[in-house]
Amino acid sequence: MKIKSAEFVLSNSDVAKCPKDMLPEYAFIGRSNVGKSSLINMITSRKSLAKTSGRPGKTQLINHFLINKDWYLVDLPGYGYAKVSKSTKKVFQKFITKYFQEREQLVCAFALVDIRHKPQPIDLEFMQYLGEAGIPFCIIFTKADKLKPKAIENHVEDYKNIMLETWEEMPKYFITSSSKDIGKEEVLGYIGELNDGMIEDA
Ligand code: GTP
Ligand code: MG
Repeated sequence: MKIKSAEFVLSNSDVAKCPKDMLPEYAFIGRSNVGKSSLINMITSRKSLAKTSGRPGKTQLINHFLINKDWYLVDLPGYGYAKVSKSTKKVFQKFITKYFQEREQLVCAFALVDIRHKPQPIDLEFMQYLGEAGIPFCIIFTKADKLKPKAIENHVEDYKNIMLETWEEMPKYFITSSSKDIGKEEVLGYIGELNDGMIEDA
């Protein structure tokens, strides 16, 4: 899919104030610092559409980006950010879960996980939550530039094994690197197919 336009629309912490049109949307979710905002910039080929930072906790609101005037990419705050206070964490988590509960326009969530780490309970729990809530999701492995191909293969295999303990099949997954421009066509192609209604169940 070709990106003809990509524009920031709005940020807020209240799902009720998100865009009201019914355009399909795709949300990037995952731990703080996993690379959600960087991936939005990579797949749209816009260097600083979404704000990124080396320090976790950069994205603190629900951010809507309108792509090709036709669908939205949504950048969400990360979960599991240890350095915010417990009460802030609760508020964050509340509006993230509210987003997933209430946003009917959401076609597919992309759960981002850092390819360098073994499967982490917090990510597995989040995917469990998505599955139980009936929200279609895919996995996006990030930062693939940090590992050699064999290590990537091993880490994906670890993930498959652990997912198959609770799921019938491994969800669809993508291997990406925002710094090396890896996985862009695959992710965009998949979104394009979903937009065209070519895939019934994401
Ligand atoms: P929060 O907004 O805090 O939840 O983080 P985020 O998930 O949006 O992460 P962000 O995109 O801000 O990136 C975090 C850090 O990881 C930044 O220093 C990025 O440059 C780096 N980063 C993101 N993607 C990649 C990647 O594919 N490869 C490498 N090497 N670094 C990356
Ligand atoms: Mg971010």
